[in-house]
Amino acid sequence: MKRALVIGASQSLGSHLATRLASNGWQVVGTGRRPASEVPGSEGFAYERLDLSDPEEAHRFLEGAGSDAYDLVVHNAVTYGAIPGKPPALDELEAMFRVNALVPYRLLHGVLAAQPTDRFCSCVVVNSDSIYHATKQSAPYAATKAALRVLTTSLADTFRSAQVSVATLLLGPLPDPRKLADFQRVAERHDVPVEDVKRAFLRKANPFYVIDDLIGFDACYRSVEYLAGLGPAGNGMVCRLDGGSAGSLI
Ligand SMILES: NC(=O)c1ccc[n+]([C@@H]2O[C@H](COP(=O)([O-])OP(=O)(O)OC[C@H]3O[C@@H](n4cnc5c(N)ncnc54)[C@H](OP(=O)(O)O)[C@@H]3O)[C@@H](O)[C@H]2O)c1
Repeated sequence: MKRALVIGASQSLGSHLATRLASNGWQVVGTGRRPASEVPGSEGFAYERLDLSDPEEAHRFLEGAGSDAYDLVVHNAVTYGAIPGKPPALDELEAMFRVNALVPYRLLHGVLAAQPTDRFCSCVVVNSDSIYHATKQSAPYAATKAALRVLTTSLADTFRSAQVSVATLLLGPLPDPRKLADFQRVAERHDVPVEDVKRAFLRKANPFYVIDDLIGFDACYRSVEYLAGLGPAGNGMVCRLDGGSAGSLI
């Protein structure tokens, strides 16, 4: 049976990926901070608590499930930081870089280095279109994801001649529960259809978007499957599912 590790599997896209993989016959280990009782679909996969802000926990994970053999590793965990609109304090910035870039780099390095040499492992690192269009509000978050993007490239280079590929799945706005709840609130407040709020959000969030809808979890799942299916050719690849937000000829 094929084995997958999904880091950041406790809600939203991560829990979708873990449960979809499990229902498609994969044996899945998924991680998150919250207890298993609060993780949708966690009965379908082996859930382990892992807080990336705690280096000791990451170290312990590497000595346990992190050193198992996997055919697929998906890194999805992220923190969006503290209060929006307020410049983060230095310790908050450091914490965001630790969770979004530095610990994932160390953790993925450890997991991939532990893979058996006779079995191929695909690693997909989920990233964000925010690295191309930071605003003064999103800049600290976007900077952490830009750092993750560079560190992912370095992992691809490090494991180039091993039985490992490391690819980036770069996403535009997802239908995460927070966003959907915000849309609903705004729609009710202004008495307009929720679809109108969503379209306005997409136009305002990034004028370069050429999408009229959020990026669905199904498209994300199929992109992960596609990247994993490429085998060694997927090493260093970037799959952009972001509505052309990184720029367009049009
Ligand atoms: N949401 C979007 O619109 C959007 C757009 C573009 C790209 N993306 C990318 O898509 C991915 C998923 O985003 P999302 O919005 O679905 O994320 P999310 O709902 O906030 O979930 C992130 C996951 O990361 C885990 N996590 C957070 N802090 C952690 C920590 N300190 N240690 C360990 N795990 C931690 C969460 O676990 P707990 O909840 O249990 O703490 C959860 O499982 C991210 O890489 C993000 O950059 C998202």
